[in-house]
Amino acid sequence: MKITILNGSPRKENTAALVEAFKEGAEAAGHVVDILHVGRMKIAGCLGCEYCHGKGEGKCIQKDDMEKVMPAYLNSDMVVFASPIYYFDMTAQLAAAIQRVYCIGKPAKATKAALLLSSASPNPFDGAIASYKGICAFTGIENAGIFTAAGDENKSEAKLAEIRDFAKTL
Ligand SMILES: Cc1cc2nc3c(=O)[nH]c(=O)nc-3n(C[C@H](O)[C@H](O)[C@H](O)COP(=O)(O)O)c2cc1C
Repeated sequence: MKITILNGSPRKENTAALVEAFKEGAEAAGHVVDILHVGRMKIAGCLGCEYCHGKGEGKCIQKDDMEKVMPAYLNSDMVVFASPIYYFDMTAQLAAAIQRVYCIGKPAKATKAALLLSSASPNPFDGAIASYKGICAFTGIENAGIFTAAGDENKSEAKLAEIRDFAKTL
């Protein structure tokens, strides 16, 4: 499978470690994995202008780093969303990258998704998980797995092994 991981963290720390573990496991299983660091890209929020559904014929009127992300939605078999929790949700950068898929409606090819979340405190994940599950239901993409790392679990070998082992089963 071609797997794209959208990493919504602007930092190369806790979420990046979860992402790397996933990549290692998936590559060990023979998959091709691309990481797009959307948290460090310039991706504006959707304007809701409907240009894409009219004159734009599926193209967004905004020209920014979303042009690098869109091929992932068009060509990947699996999309993995990864984010630190910012105020009980995924980062604004990742949310923008997800919402900008509006111009094509639904990812064209992906049949599977997964979610990787990192936080400081024990259980702030419900909001991000609810959004993710809603996106899976709306797009008809199967949720293959949800992994959370809170506080000391971040970068712990046990957590990284859990994610690596899961990705090996894909
Ligand atoms: C703006 C901001 C908001 C945050 N909000 C929360 C929060 O609501 N709950 C929580 O447990 N941690 C929160 N955190 C902490 C991060 O989720 C946590 O440190 C995470 O491991 C960072 O991942 P990263 O190293 O990939 O950036 C917040 C951090 C920032 C910078």
